[in-house]
Amino acid sequence: MALDERRLAMLRDMGVPFWRPLQPRSPAPPANAGATDHTPADTPGPPGSDQAASARETIASAKPLAGAARVASPPPLPERRLEPAAPREVSRMAQPAAVPPPPAPDAAAPRQGEAHPAVGAAPAVIATLDWPALRATVAACRACGLCESRRQTVFGAGHPRAHWMIVGEAPGEQEDLRGEPFVGPAGQLLDNMLRALGLTRAEAAPADQPPLEPAQQAYIANTLKCRPPRNRNPEPEEMRRCEPYLQRQIALVQPRLILAMGRFAVQALLRTDEAIGRLRGRVHRYEGVPLIVTYHPAYLLRNLPDKAKAWEDLCLAAQTMEALPPR
Ligand code: URA
Repeated sequence: MALDERRLAMLRDMGVPFWRPLQPRSPAPPANAGATDHTPADTPGPPGSDQAASARETIASAKPLAGAARVASPPPLPERRLEPAAPREVSRMAQPAAVPPPPAPDAAAPRQGEAHPAVGAAPAVIATLDWPALRATVAACRACGLCESRRQTVFGAGHPRAHWMIVGEAPGEQEDLRGEPFVGPAGQLLDNMLRALGLTRAEAAPADQPPLEPAQQAYIANTLKCRPPRNRNPEPEEMRRCEPYLQRQIALVQPRLILAMGRFAVQALLRTDEAIGRLRGRVHRYEGVPLIVTYHPAYLLRNLPDKAKAWEDLCLAAQTMEALPPR
């Protein structure tokens, strides 16, 4: 069911921001199609012609609304059909790095196009790799102790030239088992959030549906490519060792906008230890690319009222994306 004017007015009165795409998008396929362990309670039903609107309702009016009643909501962001607000911009943080600089070279890397892995390749070499070589290098990486306990590396998922890039923290148990980022409970919420914006992690639409456009697609990657034992927090040395892989993924995707989810993604990309709550609500920059900070989906699962704030962040991201000049 689409948001009708009565419900939009209600959201506006309650101070809950909302967002609608300017043009109807082609229906997004089920994000994370093929995932068998996904039975999210808040999944907005199977995809259909009204999928995106339905999902937006799910996030905007279901749990976030309940949350919004408990948290003090800031004034609503302008509706996207009207003039998008010029988002406040903050350039890349000039603060000292929370993560130390990358390690010195200690091995060679494969040549372009070779699936020959480089174990512990030098950051300068990683920065030159193409997708197959980068993937193979990550898969063979033994640059930190996490290689001892991982089942497999978790490289990334999504279209390699998606306009949106989502950066999370590290694989959990499900991701370690399946080799794909965000497939556990936090991933189900992430997929709902993406769907609410009319986005998908799918690389291609099913054969019976119109092709996807990069503007509808998100590439998902983590700060760490290996699961920390018992899902403990990443350690600075692990982040330092893994950082060149994420940097290269971003360079290859060339996203139009980055959504940094949680404090480890923020530390890696903005070089700051500031709390998410102090960083959200503004447009930051990573190497010139607009970057929006928001809570990690796993945090949102434990702190339901903050889903309303996450929805505000998604609205800001959508507005920021829409305000970008055509490429
Ligand atoms: N949390 C993350 O940050 N990434 C995943 O892939 C899964 C959970």
